[in-house]
Amino acid sequence: TWTTEAFVEEAIREIRAKVGDKRVLLALSGGVDSSTLAFLLHKAIGDQLTCMFIDQGFMRKLEPERLVKLFQDEFHIPVEYVNARDRFLARLEGVTDPEEKRRRIGHEFIRVFEEQSKILGPFDYLAQGTLYPDVIESADTNVDPKTGERVAVKIKSHHNVGGLPKDLRFKLVEPLRKLFKDEVRKVGRSIGLPEAIVRRHPFPGPGLAIRIIGEVTAERLNILRDADLIVRQEINRHGLYKELWQAFAVLLPIRSVGVMGDQRTYAYPVVLRLVSSEDGMTADWSRVPYELLELISNRIVNEVKGVNRVAYDITSKPPGTIEWE
Ligand code: XMP
Repeated sequence: TWTTEAFVEEAIREIRAKVGDKRVLLALSGGVDSSTLAFLLHKAIGDQLTCMFIDQGFMRKLEPERLVKLFQDEFHIPVEYVNARDRFLARLEGVTDPEEKRRRIGHEFIRVFEEQSKILGPFDYLAQGTLYPDVIESADTNVDPKTGERVAVKIKSHHNVGGLPKDLRFKLVEPLRKLFKDEVRKVGRSIGLPEAIVRRHPFPGPGLAIRIIGEVTAERLNILRDADLIVRQEINRHGLYKELWQAFAVLLPIRSVGVMGDQRTYAYPVVLRLVSSEDGMTADWSRVPYELLELISNRIVNEVKGVNRVAYDITSKPPGTIEWE
C-alpha cells in the first residue's frame, strides 16, 4: 500500500542516487507541486538545489512578492528571483492562438532558464513538478478518465511536459510524475509544507496569459488581475476556497454595451470559472449561492475599470476544459 512516508523515503533515495553530487535547478512557481518539489529536493540534497522563480508577468496580483518572501524568510530556502515580465509580453505580441501562446511561453521559459543557469550554474539537472495527469494529458495517447480506455488524442501541450527544445542541456528530475494532486498534497503536508500552500488551488504554468482569450497585453493583464483578486477575496470571505478546485476569472477580447450612471459603456466581459473536482481530470461547475455571484459581479463591474459585464461558466469537464485555452 502507498504511504506518504514510504514515498518520501523512496523519492529522497532516488533523487540522491540519480543526482549524486551534481547541482539541480528548480523552477519554483509557488504552487503545491513545485513547492513540494522544493521541500523534497532541499531535504534530499540541501544546497545542491537552486530554486529559481521566473516572473513571467502572468501571476496573480501580489503573488510573486509574497512567494519569494515566504520561501526566504519562513522556509529558509533561498530563491533566485528573475524579472522577465517585459520579454514574455514582447514574445506574445500579436499572438492569439492558444497553442501558439503556450508554445512561446514554454520556449521563453526554457530560454530564460538556460540563460540564468549559465549565470548561476553550471547545473546538470532540471527539477520539474510534473504530475501524472500532466503526463497522460500531454502524451499522444490519453487515458479516458471515464472508461480507462487509451485514446489517441492530444488535448493540450502543458508547458511543463512537451515543447522542450531539442538542444536542452538539462537532464530531468521529476519525482512527482506518478502522483495525483491529492497525493502531492499529502506528501507536501508530511514534509512540512504549510496548509496555505498545500490547499492552494492549481494554477497553470502559462498563468493569466491563457485566461486572457486572444492577445495578451499589459492593459488586459492589469484588468484581469484586479477582477481575479475580487473573485479570490469573495471566495475566501465566504469560506468556499477549500471546497473549490479552482476559482478564477477569464477575460474575453470582445466588448459589449452597458450603462453606468447615465453613461453608455463599451467594455470587456469577464467570465467566472468556479469548479469542483477531485483531480482536475473531470470537473463540475460549482453551484455557489446566487448572492455570491451577485456580489462578485457587482464588485467587478464597479471596481474594475474596463469591465462592464460578468458571465458565469456553467460547463463541466468534459466536454469543457477547466481553463478556457
Ligand atoms: P484543463 O483546462 O485541461 O486543466 O481542464 C486541467 C488542470 O490543469 C491545469 N492546467 C495547467 N497546469 N500548465 C500547468 O501546470 C498548464 O499549461 C496547464 N493548463 C491547464 C488547470 O488549471 C487545471 O487545474
